[in-house]
Amino acid sequence: MTIDQVLRAHALAATGFMPPDEGDALYEAAVAAGAMLPGLAFLEVGSYCGRSTVWLGGAARVASTVVFAVDHHRGSEENQAGWEHHDTLVVDPRTGKMDTLPSFRRTIHDAGLEREVVAVVGESPVVARAWQTPLSMLFIDGGHGEEPARLDYEGWTPHVAIGGTLAIHDVFPDPADGGRPPYEQIFVPAVESGRFTPVSALGSLRILRCVA
Ligand SMILES: C[S@@+](CC[C@H](N)C(=O)[O-])C[C@H]1O[C@@H](n2cnc3c(N)ncnc32)[C@H](O)[C@@H]1O
Repeated sequence: MTIDQVLRAHALAATGFMPPDEGDALYEAAVAAGAMLPGLAFLEVGSYCGRSTVWLGGAARVASTVVFAVDHHRGSEENQAGWEHHDTLVVDPRTGKMDTLPSFRRTIHDAGLEREVVAVVGESPVVARAWQTPLSMLFIDGGHGEEPARLDYEGWTPHVAIGGTLAIHDVFPDPADGGRPPYEQIFVPAVESGRFTPVSALGSLRILRCVA
């Protein structure tokens, strides 16, 4: 299957997540990041069923690198039972807890990206504390609450190498369009730090370059 066919086939992974034009922009940004800093890895925070990971994995293949895909696979707050983005198909009947890892693995398998995508299953701040590898591309699409977004900013952005790229999903400067934490806790601090400068915006996707 082509990556495009995989994305279409996985209607489950498609629900409510990255639109195709934003995915294509993420892919282009990652390909450019890989060309800018050859040999450095990509990292995604928040993979769910692997939809955005397929774009990043495809770019990692072009760049001859890998993408580490960090997720505890228990879903964010808005994915839990009773919330808008809950999907009973990704609940483990044995534990009653969400488990998106099997769907994620299927997506990556069907996309033929098992060499390029390395699943890291765990709490983002815990993994970030142990992380030592510089990144050419960091994509943050994890927990969208204030604290998870702040911890993702603090834990992961120091690992972006100068010249590397930071991409953030669900950035809504206008509260009428959506939740604010990715904007207030990641985008704004990144720009105000002076380390990152905005490069482009499409929908709720923001692409920034690490300049210092
Ligand atoms: C918005 S979804 C990611 C969507 C995915 N990027 C896509 O486009 O298909 C957010 C994901 O972040 C994960 N997540 C939320 N908080 C997390 C945390 N503290 N540590 C690890 N993963 C987390 C959830 O399990 C969920 O799968």
